[in-house]
Amino acid sequence: MAVQISPSILAADFARLADEAAAVPNADWLHVDVMDYHFVPNLTLGLPVVEALRKATSTPLDCHLMIEDPDRWAPQYAEAGAGSVTIHVEAAKAPIRTLREIRSLGARAGLALNPATPVEPYEDLLGEVDMLLLMTVEPGFGGQKFLDVVLPKIRRARALVQRHGGAVWIQVDGGVDADTIGRCAEAGADVFVAGSAVYGASDPVAAVDRLRAAATRAMT
Ligand code: DX5
Ligand code: ZN
Repeated sequence: MAVQISPSILAADFARLADEAAAVPNADWLHVDVMDYHFVPNLTLGLPVVEALRKATSTPLDCHLMIEDPDRWAPQYAEAGAGSVTIHVEAAKAPIRTLREIRSLGARAGLALNPATPVEPYEDLLGEVDMLLLMTVEPGFGGQKFLDVVLPKIRRARALVQRHGGAVWIQVDGGVDADTIGRCAEAGADVFVAGSAVYGASDPVAAVDRLRAAATRAMT
């Protein structure tokens, strides 16, 4: 498993998104949090911004849809050029159809689980997904405290993934920083979203390097 770092632009300056994307050339992905005021109590950005960002950076976009009715909207994020599109199981009404549609449009398909959502019921869907996103805070806002209570679920998810061939990436999102990333990596995560820990740092490039080094250390 290779460590991947996905800085969340939720913690960046929204008035300077192109510059903020360019500020982390060593990132594997740019994590784009789409919120709709319904699935979560916050509103961020949507398709037009994703389309603009797609043209402004060569870093692949990792779109995390925290919205109602992802079955309707997710394919459009794939069409807009996102490299990865993640929908929440708590919101999707036809997750298999939607995940297949995302893949058929050439993007990686992700399935996200809130902290209190168990992973076991989704074992049979592992063949339909490229990434499981295990939220390590309640979704909606950056800068929240990491929930250690999710760590056992990360371990169980890693065991399930290994049983199914090991191809599915396990992403963690929320409160991931130099202190908590090691615990996530040790438990089995391999893709790490970090908002405040990257964009709140005085040197975002060094922050990405530090996170990658800490995760790699914990994994080996
Ligand atoms: C929260 C978002 C996260 C958020 C993480 O709902 O999904 O991606 O940006 O921010 P930090 O890393 O600051 O917790
Ligand atoms: Zn996110």
